[in-house]
Amino acid sequence: MTAILTHDFAASAGLDPFAGSAVPRCLVVDDEPRLRQILVRVMRADGFVVDEASNGFEALAQMQAHPSTLILTDIEMPQMDGFALLRELRVRWPDAAVMMISGNGDVQTAVSCLSVGALDYLTKPFHLDEVRARITSVLERRRLVLENREYQTRLEQKVQAQARRIEQQFLGGVQALAEALEAKDPYTHGHSVRVSQYATAIARRLELPPNVIRAVTLGGRLHDIGKIGVREEILSKPARLTTDEYAHVMTHMTVGWKILSAMVVDQPELLNIVRYHHERMDGAGLPDGVKGADIPLEARIVSVADSFDAMTSGRRYRDDGGKQLPEALKELRRCAGTQFDPDCVNAFVDAFQSGDVTLLARVDLQQ
Ligand SMILES: [Fe+2]
Ligand SMILES: [Fe+2]
Repeated sequence: MTAILTHDFAASAGLDPFAGSAVPRCLVVDDEPRLRQILVRVMRADGFVVDEASNGFEALAQMQAHPSTLILTDIEMPQMDGFALLRELRVRWPDAAVMMISGNGDVQTAVSCLSVGALDYLTKPFHLDEVRARITSVLERRRLVLENREYQTRLEQKVQAQARRIEQQFLGGVQALAEALEAKDPYTHGHSVRVSQYATAIARRLELPPNVIRAVTLGGRLHDIGKIGVREEILSKPARLTTDEYAHVMTHMTVGWKILSAMVVDQPELLNIVRYHHERMDGAGLPDGVKGADIPLEARIVSVADSFDAMTSGRRYRDDGGKQLPEALKELRRCAGTQFDPDCVNAFVDAFQSGDVTLLARVDLQQ
């Protein structure tokens, strides 16, 4: 019997998170030395290293010095009783298996102990075989709990790894889309990269959370993705666009939003940037005419960055080579409140003044 139990105990204690010793450790807590010694002998015979204590305080000191996998504790004890000890153990050593030992008449207390987290209780007087059987069962339950937790942790890690893979695939798909547009319209490449950097500087200046800053960085790169649906002869037209051509170009926000909606499920900021980056604070923008704070912040940020780049780089259908930095910042300030969010404009101006961002040069990728 003992040999079998020793095997079971060792197996059950194999998942001991208390680390260190391969030998399972047990703490026997009872104020009656005679009863305590009986339990100590049983546990030693079954392969445990055994510590003893005669009340709750001593038990906690023992646990502090040598954490045990299993604690057998009497309930009625002087100074600190088993119930108070159990509560403390649950907080400080939640993985320890606790078995309560109740004297006659305090069975109700023992049952209460189960609701606080004891795994079982024994009633005095007890047979040693019964003690052994109950301990085996308690350790087995503890092993299952720990195994289950380990399984959950592994599952969570797997889910996280899967989420990372999905995000990488998404970014790969989006990247391919961006490259397809850039092949069709080389101007967009330099523009998107610059808008992304300007918008990121604004988002950082506004101290937005890291996930929103990441969305703004990617959103800047993708904001004009819908231009993939704009006719090539219009995209590459060197002269000023007609009204109809301009209207056609301005479908790129909804076209881009539709394309990305099919790919993006959990990044609303990205979709907002693509759809709302041509909205205006006064509600006179496109495509929905939303105004003020109803325009998502990430889109208000990209709007400032986008317009600034358009001013300073000079679009190919405009003859001018672009405004100088002071002139462009002045223009942003002039339009703050009507076209742009004043906070985003201020953040951008601050970013320039503090050197967080500099005017990015236009690179003619067609050469
Ligand atoms: Fe745009
Ligand atoms: Fe743009």
